[in-house]
Amino acid sequence: MAVGIFDSGLGGLTVWNAVAQQLPDQPLVYLGDNANAPYGVRDADDVYNLTTKAVERLWQEGCDLVILACNTASAAALRRMQESWLPKDKRVLGVFVPLIEALTERQWGDNSPPREVAVKHVALFATPATVASRAFQRELAFRAVGVDVEAQSCGGVVDAIEDGDMILAEALVRSHVDALKRKMPKPEAAILGCTHYPLMQDTFQDALGQDVRVFSQANLVAASLQDYLNRHPNMRGAGTVAKFLTTGDPKRVSARATQFLRKDIQFQAA
Ligand code: DGL
Repeated sequence: MAVGIFDSGLGGLTVWNAVAQQLPDQPLVYLGDNANAPYGVRDADDVYNLTTKAVERLWQEGCDLVILACNTASAAALRRMQESWLPKDKRVLGVFVPLIEALTERQWGDNSPPREVAVKHVALFATPATVASRAFQRELAFRAVGVDVEAQSCGGVVDAIEDGDMILAEALVRSHVDALKRKMPKPEAAILGCTHYPLMQDTFQDALGQDVRVFSQANLVAASLQDYLNRHPNMRGAGTVAKFLTTGDPKRVSARATQFLRKDIQFQAA
């Protein structure tokens, strides 16, 4: 019954945490490719190769369904994986669509033509690779018209979080928000388009101002996974053991994960 959750590193734990709360009886196998993080500065081929390898590792744990809890992998690799790589009995889901459905006030599976939505000025904060892919703008254009998106590529933030340097991460977030505001002085909504960024959500909100609605993915992805599993109970997979795997140093990664989630998380070598 295991479902896999994958990220380049620690950021996907924000999604893991929400899923574990929403589906307490569902065994989850988390895989962080910490040895190769960050993905956000890699090219699309590189992200594709690392992501497919990680997903294959999760299949070995009996996970037929894998959530890419990584926007960079979702943006740079997911479509190619679904089109030409994924076997028929496996599924890989990304983290973009639930977020865009929330922003555009749509229910799951509403494929009606794009329409006007309440928010007109949206700030997108994401990794350089996600911004370069324009995947967010593409998905949004399928669903909404007249939304002005200003994307800010947030170089350095993932590295600082992976290193546990939260002072640097905070300084970088503030400077990226300043840069965004120079291009779009009054966003109505902001998307945290990287699963590491909810770990800095208070800083984003403070720097943006309390009147900006900040969307982050964890709860949206958890709700959408629950809905998906209700409709596809056979995708729960054969694995039964919950665990945390990393390609990095398990001791170091466990310490950071425990610090971020404020609960004991023990990783083992992938
Ligand atoms: N958490 C990943 C994301 O959502 C971070 C990518 C990276 O490793 O740069 O994009």
